[in-house]
Amino acid sequence: MKIRKITDDVSWLGAIDWNRRVFDALIPLPDGTSYNAYLVRGKEKTALLDTADPEKSNVLMYQLGSVDNIDYIIAHHAEQDHSGSIPLVLEKYPQAQVLCSPKCKGMLQDHLHVSPDKITTVEDGETLDLGGKTLEFAHTPWVHWPETMCTYLREEKILFSCDFFGSHVATTDLYVRDKALVYEAAKRYYAEIMMPFRPVIRKNLARVGRFDIKYIAPSHGPVYDDPAFIIDAYNDWVSETVKNEVVLPYISMHGSTQAMVDYLVAALAERGVKVHLFDLNVTDIGKLAIALVDAATIVVGTPTVHLGPHPGVFYAAHLANALRPKLRYASVIGSYGWSSKAIEKISELIPNLKVEIIDPVMCQGHPREETFAALDQLADTIAQKHAEL
Ligand code: FEO
Repeated sequence: MKIRKITDDVSWLGAIDWNRRVFDALIPLPDGTSYNAYLVRGKEKTALLDTADPEKSNVLMYQLGSVDNIDYIIAHHAEQDHSGSIPLVLEKYPQAQVLCSPKCKGMLQDHLHVSPDKITTVEDGETLDLGGKTLEFAHTPWVHWPETMCTYLREEKILFSCDFFGSHVATTDLYVRDKALVYEAAKRYYAEIMMPFRPVIRKNLARVGRFDIKYIAPSHGPVYDDPAFIIDAYNDWVSETVKNEVVLPYISMHGSTQAMVDYLVAALAERGVKVHLFDLNVTDIGKLAIALVDAATIVVGTPTVHLGPHPGVFYAAHLANALRPKLRYASVIGSYGWSSKAIEKISELIPNLKVEIIDPVMCQGHPREETFAALDQLADTIAQKHAEL
């Protein structure tokens, strides 16, 4: 992809990574991603905002072949998908200074071995005049590392937000044109890396809300030329509101837990409760994270393996605990052969979840009538608690 103009003096560059399917060796990327950098030209100085993942350095450096001079490299975030090509850019433009938040400086030295004399730190609210183009830096910590910041270009009303508002989408659209696709990708991204910091994200939304924004230019996915679309979505996700929804991750070994899960799903649906069901053997863990953004309740379905929950359930419970969703209620259902400590073990795995535990339903062997009656009772309780929200 060649350099693409957003305005006369602001251009997109970077790389579209169509084939990447995993990020951080953890996060599924069903739609690929992009590493966006931006070039802002003033009358006197030129700034490059972020770079690209080292895997795609060649694309960025090819694009920079037509750029004679860069005075500043703005590093919004030290994670390598944005900062990783800084050493190569500095080789090409040895006079350039890297500008970043004070916390980012040490990280760039640690992760990329950038020499400290090449780095100048900028404070929250500080400005840089490029000659008729004014960059204002806004510290926005924990989106999603402690050093993250955004830049607002006053004259063009563009917010360069790096990971904040980003979406893992590979597309030739420079601007958001498929809103359904970008909404889900942005929600996935929020759920996976920003939801644990929800109160801080709320403050950061207020911080950038001070700007009059015409475009939001993130470092993943297309540019928002309708910024309210993503700002409204974020305000919804960080709010205290939970929805009449149950997330039900589960594993079944011999069909007994499956029979309980199927019964509970139908019982909840009959009572008007929406269920997001995830068989952990086949699920995209990002879909589970998305469902956790809004749901009021999690019910974990597990068989018992060596007295505890199935190891796949350990993983899902640990992930849910780390993501700190705004869940209000939790419960456990499942089958065991002769004895079980699954409930106690799962409870130990979720200390971050400020949830009320609803009576679990555990069954020895295959469910009988009394098990289904207990599942009806569980569905009644969940529906009633959701109605009181
Ligand atoms: Fe896109 Fe946190 O890096």
